[in-house]
Amino acid sequence: MIPPVRRPRRLRSTPAIRRLVAETRVSPSQLLLPVFVADGLREPRPISSLPGVAQHTLDSVRAEATRAAEAGLGGLVLFGVPEAGDKDATGSAGAADTGILNRAIAAVRAETGDDLPLFADTCLDEFTDHGHCGVLAADGTVDNDATVELYVQQAVAQARAGAHFVSPSGMMDGQVAAIRAGLDLAGHEEVGILAYAAKYASAFYGPFREAVGSSLVGDRRTYQQDPANRREGRLEAALDELEGADLLMVKPAGYYLDVLADVAAWSRVPVAAYQVSGEYAMIAAAAERGWIDRRAALEESTTAIVRAGADIVLTYAALELAGWLR
Ligand code: PBG
Repeated sequence: MIPPVRRPRRLRSTPAIRRLVAETRVSPSQLLLPVFVADGLREPRPISSLPGVAQHTLDSVRAEATRAAEAGLGGLVLFGVPEAGDKDATGSAGAADTGILNRAIAAVRAETGDDLPLFADTCLDEFTDHGHCGVLAADGTVDNDATVELYVQQAVAQARAGAHFVSPSGMMDGQVAAIRAGLDLAGHEEVGILAYAAKYASAFYGPFREAVGSSLVGDRRTYQQDPANRREGRLEAALDELEGADLLMVKPAGYYLDVLADVAAWSRVPVAAYQVSGEYAMIAAAAERGWIDRRAALEESTTAIVRAGADIVLTYAALELAGWLR
């Protein structure tokens, strides 16, 4: 036979050579761990739809933060879970200094200081009794501009509590510009914004709804994006960059690698991607059944997200991945 003109297999022949020529390397420092902190808990409560993930108490979240810092993770993304009685129509516990998320931010910042960047989820859905990410107008629709005003108050409270970054995830128009101005006017010009820029109305948020005890009936399709739209992801990301976002995010990650690659190609700020609850839960569930290899699937999926252009990956497996990478 005529010898092949090139033999690409040469560079695949041993683990050491494959390591040498790997185009994509995942490092613990680029992984963010999402963490849930629930009010009124005495001990951590496992989340059945997210095996290995629990709702934390104000004590246990500090220990988790210490583990994350020691593992060299890029940071924590904190979500608050209020008691049912603390939810109301405007999600007022989100902006209250006594709200669970703001208390958790303060507790973790006191524990890990500047060793571990803290990202606060800036959204009302965990705190509203109807479960929407904003306040409702008289006709039942989500009122964009009234919601943005509440996000500004919430972001300022999160900055006061000690967040390094606020993370508006509600997909209201103009939210990044308003929050930027609000933070600066309140003297928090050092606090950054991780913008959930291209966020799609996804079925893969399913387990998260259990994780935060969501009250939502219906869906978020009037504010989160239609999964059919790729170009619109670029518009949303461009707007958030212009409005002053320090970091842009695409969410979910694994099924939106085209959107992620688009945004990464032209963004002038670092780009994050969120491997969401359903993406993680599917791997965890299949691995529990012995249908796939948990470690290999988690490593491959995060490598693929980085390969597509993510500088930063949010994943529920961040600590586990960091352990394997060491
Ligand atoms: C909204 C928010 C959601 C997630 C992160 N922030 C839920 C939603 O938009 O319905 C989902 C994250 C996940 O599924 O892991 N504050």
